[in-house]
Amino acid sequence: MRDIQSLTLPCGTSVPALGQGTWNMGESPTKAAGEVRALQLGIELGMTLIDTAEMYADGGSEKVVGKAISGRRDQVYLVSKVLPSNASRRGTIAACEASLRRLGVERLDLYLLHWRGRYALAETVEAFETLIRDGKIAHWGVSNFDTEDMDELGELSGGDQVQTNQVLYNLSRRGIEYDLMPWSVRHRVPVMAYSPIEQGRLLRHAALMSVAKRHNATPAQIALAWVLRHPGVIAIPKTGSVAHLEENRASVDVELDETDLDTLDREFAAPQRKQPLEMI
Ligand SMILES: NC(=O)c1ccc[n+]([C@@H]2O[C@H](COP(=O)([O-])OP(=O)(O)OC[C@H]3O[C@@H](n4cnc5c(N)ncnc54)[C@H](OP(=O)(O)O)[C@@H]3O)[C@@H](O)[C@H]2O)c1
Repeated sequence: MRDIQSLTLPCGTSVPALGQGTWNMGESPTKAAGEVRALQLGIELGMTLIDTAEMYADGGSEKVVGKAISGRRDQVYLVSKVLPSNASRRGTIAACEASLRRLGVERLDLYLLHWRGRYALAETVEAFETLIRDGKIAHWGVSNFDTEDMDELGELSGGDQVQTNQVLYNLSRRGIEYDLMPWSVRHRVPVMAYSPIEQGRLLRHAALMSVAKRHNATPAQIALAWVLRHPGVIAIPKTGSVAHLEENRASVDVELDETDLDTLDREFAAPQRKQPLEMI
């Protein structure tokens, strides 16, 4: 199996382009052990970037991640998110401390604002700076920010410290290619692509199945290889299944050629004009 490509964040830290999502983990106690196993196998196979959020299973996802990384904290690049309703100067700090407790760690590697809400961005950025000063997070970033949000952030004092923008991106959600992705390349802020297999909805698509057949691969692997073809993109598929985890990890062995990309472009057209950022 090939190594996973790595990517350098603006702060200089190197992270793997293929990480692991955790939405819906921690919802069901009967599934928790399997989720921990899948996450641990992912870490062993190099998918060491793990994305979670206080929102997921109301903190339950962070608890599952905490179990999975116990004793291997140093191998993991840990990302969590603050809800916009908590993203005030004080609320952000309290939310982060609660996340740290659930995760059983002293520091997050990256802390994201989950999406924009009622608090002024400047207030949240100030809270992030306090958390960095206090050693509770190493860096911060954002999620679900459209191009104008990134511009607005860039104008704030300290706004240039943003490390990533986590957004919806997959074959059926290509809107960001028009302007947000070029923005990210220009500013060297990697995109972290969430729902890279459209929560499983892409997998029965005929075009994906035909490209998969050519490569003796699966539709999930083609969908992931397609997202990962961009050098500035990190993909964070979620799976609580060891078999799916192995399958997703092997997506880095798939090399899509022009014929594949043409087939996929015909079915999933690239945007020809600005589209408002979609969210799931
Ligand atoms: N910032 C945001 O607003 C935001 C929004 C959405 C998601 N996210 C993050 O991005 C992560 C990924 O997105 P997502 O969870 O929405 O969707 P996703 O990763 O596109 O898809 C996950 C779904 O696909 C299934 N799956 C995974 N690998 C598979 C495979 N090889 N074959 C068949 N099915 C497979 C999973 O089920 P099994 O577990 O059974 O494999 C799960 O139901 C999230 O977990 C979360 O960390 C962030």
